[in-house]
Amino acid sequence: MSTSDSGGPGRGAFGGHQLVVVANRLPVALVDGEWRSSPGGLVRALLGFLRPTAALWVGWAGTADEPQAEFASDGIDVATISLAAEQIRGYYDSISNDAIWPLYHDALRTSTYDNDDWRIYAEVNERFATRTAEVAAEGAVVWVHDYQLQLVPAMLRRLRPDLRIGFFLHIPFPPQELFMRFPWREEVLEGMLGADLIGFQRRVAAENFISLAHRLVDAEVVDDGVRTADGRFVRVGSFPVSIDIDEVAGIAADPVTVKAAARIRRRLGDPPTVLLGVDRLDYTKGIGERLTAFGELLRNRAIAHAVPGRPEVVLVQIAVPSRENVGDYQAQREHVEQLVGAVNGEFATLGYPAVHYLHRSLPLDQLIALYLATDVMVVTPLRDGMNLVAKEFVAARGVGDGVLVLSEFAGAADEFTDAVIVNPHDPHALVEAMETAIAMPRDEAIRRMSALQDALLANDAQHWAASFLEHLVR
Ligand code: F6P
Repeated sequence: MSTSDSGGPGRGAFGGHQLVVVANRLPVALVDGEWRSSPGGLVRALLGFLRPTAALWVGWAGTADEPQAEFASDGIDVATISLAAEQIRGYYDSISNDAIWPLYHDALRTSTYDNDDWRIYAEVNERFATRTAEVAAEGAVVWVHDYQLQLVPAMLRRLRPDLRIGFFLHIPFPPQELFMRFPWREEVLEGMLGADLIGFQRRVAAENFISLAHRLVDAEVVDDGVRTADGRFVRVGSFPVSIDIDEVAGIAADPVTVKAAARIRRRLGDPPTVLLGVDRLDYTKGIGERLTAFGELLRNRAIAHAVPGRPEVVLVQIAVPSRENVGDYQAQREHVEQLVGAVNGEFATLGYPAVHYLHRSLPLDQLIALYLATDVMVVTPLRDGMNLVAKEFVAARGVGDGVLVLSEFAGAADEFTDAVIVNPHDPHALVEAMETAIAMPRDEAIRRMSALQDALLANDAQHWAASFLEHLVR
């Protein structure tokens, strides 16, 4: 790793990149003073595509006061942004995750709006824009990502009108009734409208954006986008994000992974049916509703202990720690863990839990072994931009069985119409969907999985990134 200062627009030691990605997180994170690869969903969706392109990735180092650095790591150039603890609190914890995140996810929690923190959000967005303006080559293509950086496109355009700027929102974009609550709603729309292309996961989100831009900032609605009050055309469309299918399928086909899956199954007590949930520990993911429905399913069918001590159906729930400084996330952890205790208290016997709960992040190979060890994957968020876990499960299963229960409120439901689609807000429907999946005849499961495979193969991460960038430079 080497570090250096850049010397002005596109001219520093690190200048010259024709493609620049700007995202809150980097593809690397500092762990015990070492930069290690950091495999979040956004990073994994982009890395495979970016590596051969000599792109530069601009993002926050992940900890407070880490000195700004520029280096190459894992086949990609990286320029870090240094943030102070107070900036992280105001920009990331407060405005991004305690104001925008809940509002954009159907107001599942009440947003907190703090004027001083909004100023910090704007100031941090300005830092991202300035840093990008310093390192991007003349005429470069810049791809800005997600809700933490909604002001960056317009700020960057002011600094560097020569750039081609794209913005992609990974989370839902809310309907008018909700967005109108946002105290800085015009600023957000004008910030995003600094881009040449604005991409969303679903068509409905693009439509929400277009009608709000028309209503609040006088944008004229035209074919494929809007014309801003100052006469610029901004293309707006949907580009559903995906995964690196080859990476997941490759790990799944590895005999080491297949053996690990068999081992997992044995360690669970060889139950006839294994259900699996894998989520960040977020209230949008519907983990509590899932656990309650699972308890109800065991109660209804009394299938927990056909043979004393050996549960017939078990649920493995991986809950990845997330945003632990935000109150709603702390409350959610307590809620989920209390429910795990309640279901196990009622249905476990010594040595045989009904719910196997892990509060930690697992490496990709272990996750894929779990996907292979599973009969029913339960992806039931109350609202989700896309949900890449659903796509990973399908990629890992390849040809064969395995049933996906999928929330109609996840973006993935648009493509995965052959999953068992469920409304996770309806407790009765959730139990029924799990029962349908458990009882599904093998030939039907195989047929559905093959249709899911086809849908997945039509749009992998490479296709997603290439298609967005083609529309951007067109
Ligand atoms: O889904 C939105 C998103 O920001 C992703 O880009 C990211 O992988 C995930 O949430 C995790 O969030 P955070 O960066 O806050 O840990």
